Amino acid sequence: MPGLNFMVNGREYSLTVSPLMRLLDLLREEVRLTGTKESCGEGECGSCTVLLDGRPV
Ligand code: FES
Repeated sequence: MPGLNFMVNGREYSLTVSPLMRLLDLLREEVRLTGTKESCGEGECGSCTVLLDGRPV
């Protein structure tokens, strides 16, 4: 499994995760940022939107 090095809200993380893991699940389950929610699950409602380098993804 690939290793990821990244920053969230100014804090550095180094994790090994499945390449199939969604960003939503990584943030909620590995980083414990549960403010990111899944609602529609289809990219329509925006509840899972986060800012990546200032751009919504
Ligand atoms: S849950 Fe992601 S857009 Fe609705």
